[in-house]
Amino acid sequence: MFAGSKPVVVVGSINTDLVAHADRLPLKGETITGNSFHTFQGGKGANQAVAAAKLGAKAIMVGKVGSDSFGAESIRQLTASGVDCTHIAVEPCDSGIAVITVGTGGQNTIVVIPGANAAVTPAFIEANRDVIKTAGMVLAQLEIPMESVLRLGQICHEEDVPLMLDPAPARELPGELLSLCSWITPNETEAQFYARGTADDAHSKSSSAVAAALLKTGTHGVVLKLGELGAYIEQTGGSAFQIPSFKVAAVDSTAAGDTFNGAFAAALSAGRDVEWSGRFGSAAAAISVTRMGAQASMPKADEVMALLSGQSDVKL
Ligand code: RIB
Repeated sequence: MFAGSKPVVVVGSINTDLVAHADRLPLKGETITGNSFHTFQGGKGANQAVAAAKLGAKAIMVGKVGSDSFGAESIRQLTASGVDCTHIAVEPCDSGIAVITVGTGGQNTIVVIPGANAAVTPAFIEANRDVIKTAGMVLAQLEIPMESVLRLGQICHEEDVPLMLDPAPARELPGELLSLCSWITPNETEAQFYARGTADDAHSKSSSAVAAALLKTGTHGVVLKLGELGAYIEQTGGSAFQIPSFKVAAVDSTAAGDTFNGAFAAALSAGRDVEWSGRFGSAAAAISVTRMGAQASMPKADEVMALLSGQSDVKL
């Protein structure tokens, strides 16, 4: 479906996820007995690259792993998922790790140890300018140093390639950064963090008011990822769309947002319109929460199209 489109280039983190499943998340200071433990491939950057690649888009990963066995396994599995790994460098240090707890219903808590992701420097981003400028869409997140994300934004602006920033995990941003983005894609919590300080309390705002507050920061488009409530999409001077959610039995919500971003970017890069791309991303994310793991849970294009075909108002 995406053959012949310009590549999705992802600049970001590569992690190994160490995941404990339990009946519920532990309270502060509490020890509980879990049900299972799994090692999955993760990292917000690598997840978004795999989401796009599994759907059939050309996906190129720019990032770093450590010189340990986790790093070698990450490259092996990213390659197996169809991601171009020729722009991943190996640093003489530990790879990125995420320690994740998943409770019943799919909610999670995540602690990330950056490892080699902290060595994704502005100079490394600059050294990859030639591949970045080939992108139909560049995807970034906030699990690499902030100055590197800013340098990426400046390069995208200079090379006239669109940048989609997933501002996660929520952190203070340099003022210039959002004006360099074509899209920002916060979830509910992140949207409240970035919209704070505007006239009203973000908690009490409608999606359109939160999006309007974020659009004032200079970004050209906002996607609010609302979990079970779907997504809200608005562009400066453009249309706004409420994307409905899909009713599914959630097992693990890890990387649902990453799945949305990879799918949304793949569809936009292939020339699909914003509303269709949002629905495609929402359907891909819905499928991902029915399965365990980050990259392991992501669907192929035919699965997403099958889910979309059940919605009578979607033109396939
Ligand atoms: O967005 C989910 C991801 O966040 C996990 O795969 C984990 O690695 C952390 O980066």
